[in-house]
Amino acid sequence: MTPELPVGIHDLTFSTTSLVLTHEELARHTGAPLAKYHHGIGQRSMSIPAVDEDIVTMAANAAAPVIDRHGKDRIRTLLFATETGIDQSKAAGIYVHRLLGLNPHTRVVELKQACYAATAALQLACALIRSDPTQQVLVLASDIARYDIGSPGEATQGAGAIAMLIAANPAILSINTPSGLYTRDVMDFWRPNYRTTPLVNGRRSVDAYLEALTQTWHDYKERGGLPLEELRAICYHQPFSRMAHKAHQHLMHLAGTHQTAEIIEHAVAGTTTYNETIGNSYTASLYLALTSLLDSETNLEEETIGLFSYGSGSVAEFLTATIQTGYRNALHTERHRTAITQRTPITYDTYRELRSQKLPTDGEALHLPHQTPGRHRLAGTHTHQRLYEAVDKRCPQ
Ligand code: HMG
Repeated sequence: MTPELPVGIHDLTFSTTSLVLTHEELARHTGAPLAKYHHGIGQRSMSIPAVDEDIVTMAANAAAPVIDRHGKDRIRTLLFATETGIDQSKAAGIYVHRLLGLNPHTRVVELKQACYAATAALQLACALIRSDPTQQVLVLASDIARYDIGSPGEATQGAGAIAMLIAANPAILSINTPSGLYTRDVMDFWRPNYRTTPLVNGRRSVDAYLEALTQTWHDYKERGGLPLEELRAICYHQPFSRMAHKAHQHLMHLAGTHQTAEIIEHAVAGTTTYNETIGNSYTASLYLALTSLLDSETNLEEETIGLFSYGSGSVAEFLTATIQTGYRNALHTERHRTAITQRTPITYDTYRELRSQKLPTDGEALHLPHQTPGRHRLAGTHTHQRLYEAVDKRCPQ
């Protein structure tokens, strides 16, 4: 029998916004104890978009270094996962396709299922590569997590984008079979078309997440999955970083292992570094956890790790990946650390002002001030169209 061709993540990088609101600053205005933010939910700050940043600019900024490094000739598909859609019809990835100057002979599609859609995109991409290993797929996941002001979810906001280049014989990790799947119609978190913020039943969402973990784990095991002891680490979707602790404890319990809080803390520590400071980035969140783990000191060469993806509503998947020899040579660790440290801290008043700004809904022309230091920006709107530009190389509209 021919051994299965390894297919998976060949390059992986993220971008976030240029502004940041710390939880110290938030606590001064909400009156919540800072310990609740830092320890209760495990968040220290949240990325906030400048006026000329959105899901398209973040995704293009995340993808640009991947294109710089690998070129664009082999990319035949661009899959864009988001739940912060900017248009009901047109895929956000088409703007990115133009900004990056990708080949016109490319398929571009947007995928939605809350935070889960990036994992669906990853699996679809792997299937495409298995059918034609000469091509590559660019998977983008980009979101801005916004909750009502003063709501329990407000402290878990954030924003970020992931770019993953999916290919045969990947440099970073290969995606394994089987995986465990679970879908259940549950109203834990949803956003009707007429709302800019979601409706959330917080407690229910935490329970639904843990139930989905149980179900995907059982499905994974029934399909011949590995025992828990063979997984070197597990990355969880992180709506807030403490959720990873809760999830890990839950999984250990399912596997019949009792572990102390210190052991749980140690097990997930490497996966939470980026999410603690960026906040929830919905579709990108699990892959930020993965990036955080890969960028950490832990040597993962030839190790198998678990990934748990959850999207409210709900769909979940438990999958595993095997880390490749020499994977560190393919990482963008320094760029990731700089993306976080170079953000400009803003005051609570600036945060509220940014939250109150809205794009015209009557087709009126708007020129946005140049605020972002990123390579791509939203320059304005005109006749109901968003106008994007590449800053280092202006692209024709
Ligand atoms: P809340 O009411 O603000 O917080 O809501 P709480 O009172 O439950 O406290 C949170 C934790 O802080 C608790 O710990 C407290 O004990 C602790 P726990 O019991 O959970 O271990 N705490 C303190 N700790 C130290 N010092 C203190 C202190 N005070 C309290 N002084 C909630 C929390 C998660 C419900 C809220 O943030 C929320 O509604 N978030 C949005 C929904 C969400 O993130 N759900 C998670 C699962 S659903 C999901 O992951 C999908 C999602 O990403 C969307 C998608 O798929 O698209 C959200």
